[in-house]
Amino acid sequence: MMFQEIMVASQSGPYGIRIASGIYRCVPEFLREIAGESFRVGLISNPTVRALHGEVLLTLLKEQGFTVVNFDFQDGEKFKNMTSIQECLDVFLREKWERKDPFLLLGGGVVGDMGAFAASILLRGVPVFHLPTTVVAQTDSSVGGKTGVDHAEGKNLIGSFYPPKGVWVDPGFLETLSIRERRSGLGEIIKYALIGDLELLELLDRELNRLGSELFDRDLWETAIRLSVRDKARIVSEDEHESGLRMNLNLGHTFGHALEAAMGYSGILHGEAVGLGMLCAARVGERLGITEKGTEKTIAGMLRRAGLPVEWPRQISYARIAPFLRNDKKSRSGKVTLILPVAPGHVVRVRDYDETNLTVAVPV
Ligand SMILES: NC(=O)c1ccc[n+]([C@@H]2O[C@H](COP(=O)([O-])OP(=O)(O)OC[C@H]3O[C@@H](n4cnc5c(N)ncnc54)[C@H](O)[C@@H]3O)[C@@H](O)[C@H]2O)c1
Repeated sequence: MMFQEIMVASQSGPYGIRIASGIYRCVPEFLREIAGESFRVGLISNPTVRALHGEVLLTLLKEQGFTVVNFDFQDGEKFKNMTSIQECLDVFLREKWERKDPFLLLGGGVVGDMGAFAASILLRGVPVFHLPTTVVAQTDSSVGGKTGVDHAEGKNLIGSFYPPKGVWVDPGFLETLSIRERRSGLGEIIKYALIGDLELLELLDRELNRLGSELFDRDLWETAIRLSVRDKARIVSEDEHESGLRMNLNLGHTFGHALEAAMGYSGILHGEAVGLGMLCAARVGERLGITEKGTEKTIAGMLRRAGLPVEWPRQISYARIAPFLRNDKKSRSGKVTLILPVAPGHVVRVRDYDETNLTVAVPV
């Protein structure tokens, strides 16, 4: 089968991201090629994704002589915690898992983040392969090696950097994804365009309505995903541990994560929160004189065309998100590093600013 491979540099060795519709059929072959002689694989998913795509994969793996140990996390961000990790570790330790036996993570960002975190601490590390099934997972979470779980104090506060051995992206999986989830993924794709991908910005300019529509155009999605993956791969290859450039990927995330936490991780999807977070960043940037006037409007227009929300939830005041902003992992000595748009296609990192300017982020 023909596929594109985008390479990612990592301290623990380079890995490839292979992208093509129908690529899931090649998984047994790829596993052999990369994982060597291991004939045992942990197929980790959740009940929703397993019901849609797990069976066919299981059959393929078994046909090719793999012994498969299945484990499902419960579906949902609210299960992204240490209890779920413990359950996963229990299953594989009882199976007498060995260091050479890989985990294959079939699912969205929640399955990917948790499965890879469990893999990073099981026997001090077993190999991980991602088979991402949501837009967020295909364009973002499966690439770059960030793993982890949430804590009552904030999102993703426990985790590790643990790069995969390979990522196999099949845009065909997105066909079963709800329209709301697909649109939510567009929040991240818009982010890649805004932080510096002019080719993607052009594509979105032409095709955002079509990407946000009910009708699923596989080729168009494949193009948007390929461009986004290329961006993520380039950025994490340059700055794996987020000391500079990688922080740019957090455009909209500081406010977005705080919003998700203030809402108790329910009622809003990650990409929706990122979209609203990018509007917050633009408002703060315009107030600070960093962001070109009119940028907030431009971003709002893109979100609207993608079918994403642009109205900040009325019940969430600035005071409600403030504690979560301070808890952001990117903060140093209690001060948050902000990623602000200068204009579409260009962002800056800002640390020294008057915090009273942050209140304009929230328009209620
Ligand atoms: N590690 C990173 O760098 C990184 C980056 C971005 C986001 N994340 C994390 O990713 C998570 C969000 O990921 P997500 O948006 O994929 O959410 P998710 O994993 O919760 O998936 C969303 C929903 O879609 C369902 N689903 C998945 N694939 C499907 C398919 N093909 N068809 C039908 N339903 C399907 C899931 O069961 C779930 O109900 C957050 O926890 C976030 O912190 C991590």
